[in-house]
Amino acid sequence: MKYFIGNWKMFGIPSSINILNKINSFRSRDINRNKYRVVITPPYTLLETFAKKFKNKKIMIGSQNCYQKNQFSSNTAAISPYMIKKVGGKYTLIGHSDNRAEGDTNSMLKDKVKFALKNNLKVIFCIGENKLQKNNNKTFSVLKSQLNKVLEKRFNKNNIIVAYEPIWSIGTGKIPSQKDLSKTTIHIKKVLKKIFKKNSPLILYGGSVDENNVKVFKQIKEIDGFLIGGASKSSKKFIDIIKNYYR
Ligand code: 13P
Repeated sequence: MKYFIGNWKMFGIPSSINILNKINSFRSRDINRNKYRVVITPPYTLLETFAKKFKNKKIMIGSQNCYQKNQFSSNTAAISPYMIKKVGGKYTLIGHSDNRAEGDTNSMLKDKVKFALKNNLKVIFCIGENKLQKNNNKTFSVLKSQLNKVLEKRFNKNNIIVAYEPIWSIGTGKIPSQKDLSKTTIHIKKVLKKIFKKNSPLILYGGSVDENNVKVFKQIKEIDGFLIGGASKSSKKFIDIIKNYYR
């Protein structure tokens, strides 16, 4: 099963549901529809209406983050995994580089993963190196530490998807070479197999994925799908990514 996950970031108002309607109607006619899943992570403000509208459809709705507590607390502006689940969210991103940059630490991320899983949300755990780390050949050690400091064997690997998003690639139009990405994904898989003993969770790639470069990634068999930012705000681009992937 492949995954096409659209992360809207700070984008979307109620009428943006038209984008999902178009993706959904494409998917329901697509001969390849049983080979992949579509997940969209709109901002919190749209979670409930979108999740309700697509409750019986094949598009799944998730949140872009969650607070590191289980249910209710006195933390102003915080949204817990329980609250996300109760409005129909099925997935949550955790550890996106935007949120790491704003202060999410490994120990906060570990709690987020723990409580998200406890509330039966599927976790899309994001990792990635920055430009300096890449230039200093630190990519492998950075990724290893991001995985080892948060993920544990007792977490259900079937409810975790790892998204590799090199920070230097997010929103820049720059993508890793096929060779580098292939090596990096194999490395990630190796680290994950060590954590989870034997089997690894699925691995997605994210960072400037668009309808043209998706063909390059198709060649890398370790990649189970994509976390798509900018291009997920356009139904046409998002649909073209899926179309071109299977072409
Ligand atoms: P872009 O596809 O806009 O580079 O964003 C990637 C991303 O951060 C998805 O979470």
